[in-house]
Amino acid sequence: MIETVKNKPIFKVLENSEMLNTFKKDVENGLNASPKTLPSKYFYNKVGDALFVEIMNLPEYYLTRSELDIFQNKTEGLIKELALNKDSYFELIELGAGDGLKTKKLLSALDAQNFDFDYLPIDISKNALHLLEEDLNKVLPNVSVKTQQGDYFEVLLNLKASANPKIILFLGSNIGNMNDAMAAQFIYNLGANLKAGDKLLLGVDLIKSKDIVLPAYNDSKGITAKFNLNLLERINEELGGDFNLDNFKHQPEYNETDGVAESFIVSKKNQTVEIKALEATFQFKAGEKINTEISRKYNDVLIEEIISNTDFTLETKIMDSKNYFADYILSRH
Ligand code: AVI
Repeated sequence: MIETVKNKPIFKVLENSEMLNTFKKDVENGLNASPKTLPSKYFYNKVGDALFVEIMNLPEYYLTRSELDIFQNKTEGLIKELALNKDSYFELIELGAGDGLKTKKLLSALDAQNFDFDYLPIDISKNALHLLEEDLNKVLPNVSVKTQQGDYFEVLLNLKASANPKIILFLGSNIGNMNDAMAAQFIYNLGANLKAGDKLLLGVDLIKSKDIVLPAYNDSKGITAKFNLNLLERINEELGGDFNLDNFKHQPEYNETDGVAESFIVSKKNQTVEIKALEATFQFKAGEKINTEISRKYNDVLIEEIISNTDFTLETKIMDSKNYFADYILSRH
């Protein structure tokens, strides 16, 4: 009894200190690199999560609305192309729970048509899963929700033991925050945890003109700027940094030919920043950029290239009414 009570917090502290150590190392490596870089995964603390929700509701951020259009208005197409069968049970697994806004449209249609399935949202955040489950139990009480807390691949490895057919949802162009090599590795790893016939529904933003993409990452209210600069705030709070946020600015860039959007934090002047936890100082030149995020945009050729060394075959894609966004359907061979 005593041991359980004792062990729990110790484990938590260890877990947190491990996370803090990784954060420290990533910041140290990133700021010592040339050009400087910081991983975008550190956007998502409590403040960052809330800012991202605001971003998704911005008029300029078309991505969420475009994919919602597909889930809301092309639901039957999704069901047909995923080759879902009413007579056999399947697992619908979502990587990254989110607020379920888009997925709810699909779940509701599957429920109304009496498909036999469980919905398994995977997320690292217990809180996000709890909120999603509560909401789904209220609005779709007949849908069986089995939340899975943890790392995507750990959970998938556990789920692999069952022979049940699986549909994986990886939405929101989250894959776009990886470079192509990482994305290929990620999809390869997904394939390694699935069986022949399983499907992957991959939601991606499509290559389009600068006039549409750039404002999505440079909104008029400055929410994306806050989201980006929150990385420095986090370093200040968690690693004892003394970044003065007034001396840095958010800068998005987009190369229309390659389809790569990137976010940078730019130093407005020559300055030195101390980070106590690293026992180090870092020099920034006026105009020097820290790369904080890549948001890749895709087309069929790029998707084919990325999956070329994986166990997936491209079946088809479903686009929104403006052709801004696509949900690609890949089949595990
Ligand atoms: C989560 N991810 C797909 C978003 C994107 O569009 O790359 C994150 C984001 N960054 C700035 N705005 C939104």
